[in-house]
Parts: sequence; C-alpha cells; structure tokens
Amino acid sequence: MKQTTVAVLLACAAMGAQAQDRAWLDKSKSADERARAAVAAMTLDEKLLLIVSYTDKKDLAKQPDDIVPPAIKADVAAHHIEGSAGYVPGIARLGIPPQWQTDASIGVRVGGMERTALPSSLATAASFDPAVSEAGGRMIADEARASGFNTFLAGGANLAREPRNGRNFEYVGEDPLLAGRMAAGLINGIQARHVVSTMKHFAVNDHESQRTTVDVTISPEAMRQSDLLAFEFVDELSKPGSVMCSYNLVNGRWACENEYLLNKTLKQDWKFKGYVMADWGAVHSTADAANYGLDQFTGYPCCNHHGPFYSAKNFKEAMNKGEVSMRRLDDMAQRILWPLFQTGVFDDPAKPGKIDFAAHANVAQRAAEESMVLLKNEGNLLPLANVKSVAVIGGHADKGVLAGGGSSGVTPVGGNAVPNLEPTKWPGPVIYMPSAPLAALKAELPKAKVAYASGKDIDAAVALAKQSEVAVVFVTQWMGEGFDGKLELDGNQDALVAAVARANPKTIVVVESGGAILMPWLPQVPAVLEAFYPGIRGGQAIARILTGKVNPSGHLPISFPASNAQLAHAEIPGFGKPDGIPVHITYHEGAAIGYKWYDAKGYKPLFAFGHGLSYTNFAVAEPKANVANGALTVGAALRNTGKLAGKGVVQVYVAPADLKASGWEAPKRLVAFHKLDLQAGGANTFTQAVDPRLLATYEVADNSWRVRAGTYRVLFGQAADDLPMSVDVTLPDMVWSAVHKE
Ligand code: BGC
Repeated sequence: MKQTTVAVLLACAAMGAQAQDRAWLDKSKSADERARAAVAAMTLDEKLLLIVSYTDKKDLAKQPDDIVPPAIKADVAAHHIEGSAGYVPGIARLGIPPQWQTDASIGVRVGGMERTALPSSLATAASFDPAVSEAGGRMIADEARASGFNTFLAGGANLAREPRNGRNFEYVGEDPLLAGRMAAGLINGIQARHVVSTMKHFAVNDHESQRTTVDVTISPEAMRQSDLLAFEFVDELSKPGSVMCSYNLVNGRWACENEYLLNKTLKQDWKFKGYVMADWGAVHSTADAANYGLDQFTGYPCCNHHGPFYSAKNFKEAMNKGEVSMRRLDDMAQRILWPLFQTGVFDDPAKPGKIDFAAHANVAQRAAEESMVLLKNEGNLLPLANVKSVAVIGGHADKGVLAGGGSSGVTPVGGNAVPNLEPTKWPGPVIYMPSAPLAALKAELPKAKVAYASGKDIDAAVALAKQSEVAVVFVTQWMGEGFDGKLELDGNQDALVAAVARANPKTIVVVESGGAILMPWLPQVPAVLEAFYPGIRGGQAIARILTGKVNPSGHLPISFPASNAQLAHAEIPGFGKPDGIPVHITYHEGAAIGYKWYDAKGYKPLFAFGHGLSYTNFAVAEPKANVANGALTVGAALRNTGKLAGKGVVQVYVAPADLKASGWEAPKRLVAFHKLDLQAGGANTFTQAVDPRLLATYEVADNSWRVRAGTYRVLFGQAADDLPMSVDVTLPDMVWSAVHKE
C-alpha cells in the first residue's frame, strides 16, 4: 500500500473514532444517548460548570476568587445578557452551548429592552383553548431566540388555591385539567421553536406572602389530586425540559431539597428526564439539595441575597467529603443536557436577529380577543351599536392597559404608557401597555363622540356620564410577585362605578385585574367585561369586543367569590409584613380548590368557574358518556342558536352519586372541555377520553390511583353552575400504579 493511502486511511479512522467519541454530535442518536455521550467526555470541572447558573454580576463580583474563579466571572461578565435572569457557561471544547435563561410566560424580560407582551397567563387560560397558548408560546420563543436566549423560565402552573395570591395572573387557573392543558400549550409552543422551557413553581407555592419562609402543610393525597396533578398533566402533555422548584417549604422541607416532590414524585413516579432548577435564591444547601433532587443551582445567594452562594467549589468539597457522589453529578449533568438535545437547542442555536413586532402583536391581540370574559350583559347592552356618545372613565384608559408586576413583567414595544406610578421599584415598575382603549374605541366608533374622564374626580366623571349615551368605566387591580393582594378594588374605584352607574343606567365596567375581585356595585351595572391583563394590544381587543367586531368567547378559569367570607383562609399568614418571617399554613381545604371548595361548602360564588357569555347563544345537545373496560369517554354537540357566529365552550364535569363513598374532595370535577367555532345556526360535536385520574383518588399507602365502583353522573353544560344535561354511568373498581411507564 502506498504511503499516502495509508495516511488517508489512518486519518479517516481517526475521524471515525472522533465522531464516535463525539457521539453527542450525531443527530441520528436519541437525546438520551447524546447527553450520555457528552457527559462521558466531560472532566469534573466541566460537569460542575453546568450545574450553576449565574445572575447578578454585583453578587458575583463580591464572591472571592476561590469561590468563583476569575475565568468564570469574566465569562459571565462577557456573555450574561444584561437584565436577564441567568447564564450558565458553555463548554466550547465539546461544543456545548451556554444556557441563556430569560423570564417568563408572557414574553421576554430583558431589562428595559422592548418586547411583545402576551395577555397574562390567567387571561390566556380563559380562552379554554390550548392552541391559543401554543401560538403565544411560539411567538415569545421566537423573540427569545432573536434576543439570544435558549431557555425560558415560563410555564407557571400553580393552582389558584388562594384567590388573593399576587401571582395568580402568572398561572392558569384553579382546575388541574384546565391548568395542565393550558400551561402545556404554552410550553409546547416554546419548545417547538427550539427553546427549553421550565414549568414552575414546583410546588404548592400558592401564595406570595412570606414566600421564602412559609411552610405549607398539605397531605400527599390532596397534593396529588390538586397542585401536583396539574403539574403531572403539564409534564405529560409538553415534556418541559426543566422544572423550577419553589421558594417555600412543603411539609417541613424546602421545595428545592424536597425528596418527596423532586426525587419521588417528579423523577421516580413521573419519570421526568429533564433538570430541576431552583427558583432564584431558593437553594438552602449543597449536598442535601443535590441528593434530594436539585440539578441546577441558580445564581444568587439564598434568602434575599443574605445567605451563602452555592458554588461549584462548595459542590466539589461536598464530593470530596463523600456527601455527594459522582453518579449524582453525572445524573445532574445528563439531565441538564438532555433538553438541549431533545428540544433542538443544540442543533439549532439561538441567534440574535430581527423581530417582526407587527406580526407578533397580532398574536397577542388574538390571544386577548379569545380570552376576555363577558361576565354580565343585561338587556344586551353590548355590543355597542349605533351609539352616539360614549363616556370612557378611569383606569388610565386614555393611555393603555395594565400588566402584572415582578419577574414576568415585560417592557412593551412602545414603552410604558403610564410611567412613574408607585411602586417604581421591585416588584414594579407598574407597567401599562401602550394600547389605549380610548383611542381604540374612537377608531371602532368613528361616528360617536367618545370623551374621557380620569375618574379621580368622581363628580367630573358623573357629569360626563350624564351627558353620554353609555358610560364605560375601567377598573384596575395591580398584582405582582412577592405580595398578595385584596379582592377589594383600591382607592375610589368602587365609589366611582357606583356613582357613574347611578348617573347613567347604561354603564359598562371593564375590569383589568390579576384575578378575582369583589363587585359591590354589580346589581347596579348592566354589563361587565373581565379583560384581565390583556397584553400589548389589549386596548384594541377591548374595543373590538365592546363594539362587536369580536364576539367574546372567554370563560372564567377561576371562580369569583361573592365575599371574603367564602374564602378557605380568612387570612394569609404574614400578609403585608416585610419578608422573612417564618410562618406556617395548613391547606386544610386539601384538593377542594376553587369551584370544588364552593361546591363542598354550598357557597354560591359571584361568578362561577367556567362562566362566560357571548353575543350569540349556544345549546349543548346529544350528551354522551360511555364506559368501556373502565375507561370513560364523553362527547356532546354544541349548537349556535343565535344570530351571530361565535365560539362556545362545552364543559363536562363528573359528580359521584355517593360523594362519601367516592372518596372525592368535592361534589364534582371538570373532566373535559372543548371550544367550538360555530356559524349562526351551526353545530358541531366532539368526543374526549377522560383521564382516569380525574375520577380517582390518590392512595398514599401503595402509591396508586383508585376509582371506587359506583354510579357517577356526567354533567354537560357551559359553566360549573350551568350544567343542564347529564348521563349516568357505572364505573367499576379500578386501581393502578401512580408510577408512569418509561
Ligand atoms: C421568580 C421566578 C423567576 C426568577 C428569575 C424569581 O423571583 O419567582 O419566577 O423565574 O425569579 O427571574
């Protein structure tokens, strides 16, 4: 053989061997295989690089060089995107990209950089259509990539157990099935665009007061049937690459070192393959955290920056002392790499680029138009047609629409429409999206005289309302991260609505709220539209709904209580006090959250879960419920019986004939829902398999789900309190393991 041929053969063999060694580059291999191959090629220090996320350069600069080596400080300083959540250095030698982590579920948050903001997640949940959240997920992921991020801290899915929770607007309602499907929609959209998404905050982080110190007591049965069931659905339906563990303690253990939550439930039972990252500052130890299930230490010191910094150096020391094994570190690295391969981040890296803001604003507007809930419309006051004059009052409706505060706050394209409102600092600034309902109403009603009064002066507002054919009063409730709110509106807003309604019987109230509010003026007001935080085109969406360009089709993802007396907890421990007080709460209501609580107590809420009116009418017909081998399938027809096209939502609940014998927490549970788009006079049908866990109780003794034999009534309708049709079925006894198959 000639020398050159030998050289070529040797070179080819070397390349082959290299390709084989670098098997993580091979796209034909599974994400598991690729992650495993990459971990096998890593040095100890490289593995350790993956498990720490860095955030705050100031905090980092304060760390001595032996804790965070200068090379890492320099890397973070050069590559962390200013104003974003976190940065995990890459491993250039192996082609492993850095992880650039950004908040949150309504859009990209990067300091003051202007980006497109979706409606709040609670608003989107009101669409009752996972395709709407998925479209939003794709849009915000495109902006994340164009801004240089490959990891989204999105997918908030805590249940709205506490109606005053400051972060309910970041979550997806009070029901596990609805929350599961809606959060999964968002994550599916994000990950389809090659961005890793979290689901968060795991778990039972259901109120904000003293969130970093509160110890929540709740039974495993109740957790599995409520908060954890929502997360279980999200995980199954969207396979998020990451789970963010929460600040609080659950049954005496920090959520980020909670063996029951992380190792047992998430990893062993649900077979979660991704990684657990801590909420920012939620780490309390090195070895315990790692051994009980945390995979990535996020980058600022715990306890509001007052605790130690959990560094790679600490971790190495813990390994040297035998407190954490190499096997655990390998597993952590494997879990962090897996979603990079699985979601396409590795093969299709994020690149900064141009954003089509106009197209993206349309996605946000469509989500808002699908989400607003028409709560009341006496005498068909809405839609406004041929109206000659409109008084627009309050809520900064001349400038924009409200958004929620905290880490999910997005600086909107066009800037904050009402700057300098208090608080201007964390969890502020209070942001108003630059989408003024006033201007939008003028555009939709070119022939009408549309005038504005701020509402600060009630007499002036009343005078304007008296001169106008209709009055539209905007009320707002600002909620945000790190605090809980009240159901009562702030300031003079209730008095304003009452005074305007007295002056003009054709008064419409538009509510921009984080969640539920009380409405002492409701009997005096003929029409109410719940707009939540409607995002960057919220003003246009409100105007189009009020004027009938869009037929409202949102349904409440949370119940609106009639009074504080109906709440499960009279007080939230530590409410309104500075953070850091160790407090305790027992979630005695267990899994009976929202409508389940009201049903169990026999309370009539102000507005029921699932409620939402339309400008047309729908009738549910042909209810069907079949049981085959213990599996329940339900279906129905929906007919548009009115004169306008519109979208209706069929909701299916199940109620055991013998509640006590069923073991359920409450008289009924939502088991299916489906949104249908129908022309006037049109009808359509749907069929859905019911997830058996929605008929079961969780049995802690043998980690199983169990359905108790008996008669169950399947109820069909359009809201939790509007279920006119039913079919009885008989379910057999069934028990199955709560452990998922691989
Ligand atoms: C929030 C998380 C957020 C993180 C990073 C925390 O304060 O609870 O939801 O993702 O900060 O900004």
